[in-house]
Amino acid sequence: MTPDDGRDDLKRSLGATLEFAVGSGGWVVEGASAQSAGQAQEGAQADGTNPPADLPILSSPEGGPLAAIREELGECTRCRLSQGRTHIVFGVGNPDAALLFVGEGPGAEEDKRGEPFVGRAGQLLDRMIAAIGMTRKDVYIANVVKCRPPQNRDPREDEVATCIEFLWKQIDAIRPRAICALGAHAAKSLTGSAEPIGRLRGRVLQARGHNLVATYHPAYLLRHPVAKHHAWEDLKLLLSLVEG
Ligand code: URA
Repeated sequence: MTPDDGRDDLKRSLGATLEFAVGSGGWVVEGASAQSAGQAQEGAQADGTNPPADLPILSSPEGGPLAAIREELGECTRCRLSQGRTHIVFGVGNPDAALLFVGEGPGAEEDKRGEPFVGRAGQLLDRMIAAIGMTRKDVYIANVVKCRPPQNRDPREDEVATCIEFLWKQIDAIRPRAICALGAHAAKSLTGSAEPIGRLRGRVLQARGHNLVATYHPAYLLRHPVAKHHAWEDLKLLLSLVEG
């Protein structure tokens, strides 16, 4: 690697950080151009990021322990959420990822396409991942429940209890160095703590022996961009765990 390559990497990473910071308005970083804010709004399209909305994706793990878990899940009817779903949203990404993101449950777009975080919140998640120098292909992304709760209501306790065993199996298979719980529901499901996200975030928690950092859900950050600087602190903490 030449010194120039290093500088290019740094510039790319800084650009992604600024895009995460200024996208959707709110936390405007000094010196960030209006153009970079506009680019951030367009959503991610480059390789390894959120695909264009008209592309159907039904990703299934190819081989390995994750494929076995997907097979065990089958055409699941273990809880009532199966009744309204279009697709099971199993999870996507690197089966050996050092960093695992966990959301609450699929929304309408995810249900339609079979992949987690492909709507507006997913585009922001892509920028959060890019801000720490990674892409969707480097990390793994899953949810606590794998079928869309009707009208995007919170998953009920019995639905979480039924489905989360498959997430624990995914975690055992991937063995990430760190887990990022996106939002209070994911944090509660994985750590057992019902504290509000504002109190949980910013420190390293434990989830069955795994290091976990909770942060604001990207959907919350879209509504409250002022909280992005906290999310950025959480992402840096995650990166330190991954690299440590
Ligand atoms: N919100 C989530 O928690 N998960 C998704 O997959 C999409 C939106």
